[in-house]
Amino acid sequence: MNQIRPMMTTDIPQVFEIERRSFPYPFGEVLIGSLYFGAPELCCVMEQDGKMVGFLIGGYTPVPRQAHILSFAILDEYRGKGLGKELLNHFLNRVDILDFSSVKLEVNIDNQRAIELYESLGFRIESRIRKYYQDNSDAYLMIKREE
Ligand SMILES: CC(C)(COP(=O)(O)OP(=O)(O)OC[C@H]1O[C@@H](n2cnc3c(N)ncnc32)[C@H](O)[C@@H]1OP(=O)(O)O)[C@@H](O)C(=O)NCCC(=O)NCCS
Repeated sequence: MNQIRPMMTTDIPQVFEIERRSFPYPFGEVLIGSLYFGAPELCCVMEQDGKMVGFLIGGYTPVPRQAHILSFAILDEYRGKGLGKELLNHFLNRVDILDFSSVKLEVNIDNQRAIELYESLGFRIESRIRKYYQDNSDAYLMIKREE
């Protein structure tokens, strides 16, 4: 059974493990901790039968009041089953409740799976950020605005 719950301090090592397995240039554990403490109300984890299988770390800027997806991943062997969409939808509901008028994120231009997921939930490509990643690859800045 799937469950989405708020992230807790004790989740940081496991979140880091999923991060490490999901990205070529993962955030370090200390950075994950400080991002979490920046906005714990915007961080959540997904469990399946009690095992953590994904997470989403959010942040925000106060002016303009905009939420920001800082990291988001589902463990490889659990992808393609709708879990990512469920977690992202949960986050977008939180964003609504917390009264943010928009959400932004950066995604690698080659990450077709993530781009399609974001577009299916109302994000639109806003611009291209050259050499955003450590290997000099580009990102799209995507934004979802309150309708
Ligand atoms: C991006 C990620 C979180 C998506 O999680 P997921 O659980 O696999 O996604 P879902 O199964 O919920 O699929 C949601 C949507 O993604 C798209 N998608 C899923 N699998 C796909 C595939 N193989 N190819 C293309 N699009 C795909 C579809 O639009 C799908 O929507 P649909 O099922 O209504 O058609 C996951 O692939 C992941 O962790 N990737 C590595 C880390 C990463 O890239 N994070 C995002 C950084 S910006």
